[in-house]
Amino acid sequence: MCGIVAYVGHRDAAPLILKGLKRLEYRGYDSAGIALLNGALNVYKKKGKVKDLEEAIAHETLQSTIGIGHTRWATHGEPNDRNAHPHYSASKNLAIIHNGIIENYSSIKKNLIKKGHEFHSDTDSEVFVHFIEDIQINAGCTLEEAVRLAMKEVVGAYAIVVMDATNPTQLIAARKGSPLVIGVGEKEFFFASDATPIIEYTHEMIYLNDYEIAVVRDGELTVKNIDNALQSPYIQTVELELEAIEKGGYEHFMLKEIFEQPRSVADCLRGRVNADNGHLVLGGLREYTDKLAKAKRIVIVACGTSWHAGLVAEYLFEELARINVEVEYASEFRYRNPIIKEGDFVIAISQSGETADTLAAIELAKSKGATIIGVCNVVGSSIPRATHAGAYTHAGPEIGVASTKAFTAQVIVLTQMAIAVARKKGSLHEDTFRRLLFELERIPHKIETVLQSDGKIKEIAEKFKDARNFIYLGRGYNFPVALEGALKLKEISYIHAEGYPAAEMKHGPIALIDAEMPVVFIATKDSSYDKVVSNIQEVKARKGQVIAIVTEGDKLIPTMADYVVEIPAMHEALIPLVSVIPLQLLSYHIAVMRGCNVDQPRNLAKSVTVE
Ligand code: AGP
Ligand code: GLU
Repeated sequence: MCGIVAYVGHRDAAPLILKGLKRLEYRGYDSAGIALLNGALNVYKKKGKVKDLEEAIAHETLQSTIGIGHTRWATHGEPNDRNAHPHYSASKNLAIIHNGIIENYSSIKKNLIKKGHEFHSDTDSEVFVHFIEDIQINAGCTLEEAVRLAMKEVVGAYAIVVMDATNPTQLIAARKGSPLVIGVGEKEFFFASDATPIIEYTHEMIYLNDYEIAVVRDGELTVKNIDNALQSPYIQTVELELEAIEKGGYEHFMLKEIFEQPRSVADCLRGRVNADNGHLVLGGLREYTDKLAKAKRIVIVACGTSWHAGLVAEYLFEELARINVEVEYASEFRYRNPIIKEGDFVIAISQSGETADTLAAIELAKSKGATIIGVCNVVGSSIPRATHAGAYTHAGPEIGVASTKAFTAQVIVLTQMAIAVARKKGSLHEDTFRRLLFELERIPHKIETVLQSDGKIKEIAEKFKDARNFIYLGRGYNFPVALEGALKLKEISYIHAEGYPAAEMKHGPIALIDAEMPVVFIATKDSSYDKVVSNIQEVKARKGQVIAIVTEGDKLIPTMADYVVEIPAMHEALIPLVSVIPLQLLSYHIAVMRGCNVDQPRNLAKSVTVE
């Protein structure tokens, strides 16, 4: 998600940290800040770019050989100056930078407020550093011990570095679920979210493991685990080039983001779903789940991939919550003078939160009395500010223009929303509810499993990279996936592709089928499986080449299709989260083989802020 850079040693820390934050800009962020210790512990931070921060502190005396810096991708609290990192502890003797999400921050914050703590931001990160200091004071222990004890209490993901005004040679770092790299120099140490800010100073790196705490003090590094056992960290020599590190070693951001989906989906479930105790709460919708359960009608407005996520939501809300849903292209809705009544709910879906057509559709629906719920990835963007409530997708920045992890993030949030509304409405049997939660928690693992088919999918791509047309077919929950697969292919490989409901073939498109036409079927074991098998036979009878996404263990379709990719079995309502993965990879590999600019396809923008 965001960027962390910290340094302690003999160099001038400020320029090194600011330069390092710029190296991390590719990760996407909304604010930046730095804390330096030169007698006093001073924090400088603001919304905007690193260069805005540089300009803001140009007149400050920044001489220091120790410091921490941060680029924020907001998850809790709008992007603004006060929510930017670093954050002080209550005494202002400590400062923290944090990458990740502390799920139980609100309960910790409540307890600290009872003890008289005052908070100056809305973030979970500020709570973390207050909590650490509170432990240190009450237990009368060292800062290192307080960090360790705090780690035992907090739930969520974090990579942190803590600086202590009373100890000018000490930095304490810890991680769980978010990356943290330590650069080892001559009596100097670097900390960062990845190797890019460090590589020009040293190639000797330690990749901290989950639940490890690294302490640098007086030029010495020690690493312990959460049980206080001394670790002997492996120091590896990183030879990767800068650009390769930014992409996490992947050739393109799109591929990196496809492979990030087990984590990004887990981040969208974090703090919201707990199957063991039947917990499902979307914080931002607490007051609206009741109202949604009573809604007569839900209208979904979105564009592109987000519109496809909306189609999945239509199947979910109608099947699980028995609520009438209409999915509208925002660009059509806004000009059509639609029938919207008081009491109608509109769900606006957008990765960027800045799509002009979707924003205009929201304003129109609001003017007609609808309640607007947002599902967005960028905290504080225009669309969340225009809605009455919403739930963020914690996918982190999506750099590739072709949306991948944002789609699965949208679908997993919409799925949670539909299940929560259905349960509130009493339209979902308790054991179905519990089964869905249980299966939701296993979706990251199932995506991980399908990603292991990447090599096989690349081989299939090789066979079809010169095709001139593709057809994608699916039924039920997989119909929106067929549309999404077609969009992925056409927008990055420039091959014409169309998605259809599989049954629709016989109403015209089947005339297109011949030996030159690859047909991708999403043919998973679900309620329409037998019908899809018949559709495959119709295509094969006309010499079409069939690529089938099937449920693992399927014995029938592999005897019919030319190429097969398996996905794990799961509840039908959750299939889109996994059946889309092979289609993302297929389009990626075909585009690469065709020499296309995968991350910035021709004619496209990441956020369409014009009409
Ligand atoms: C999807 O791969 C495209 N980048 C595009 O269709 C995108 O989904 C659409 O422009 C909507 O963007 P938004 O989700 O940011 O509103
Ligand atoms: N959850 C923290 C915040 O919202 C950190 C987000 C990040 O990783 O940048 O400030």
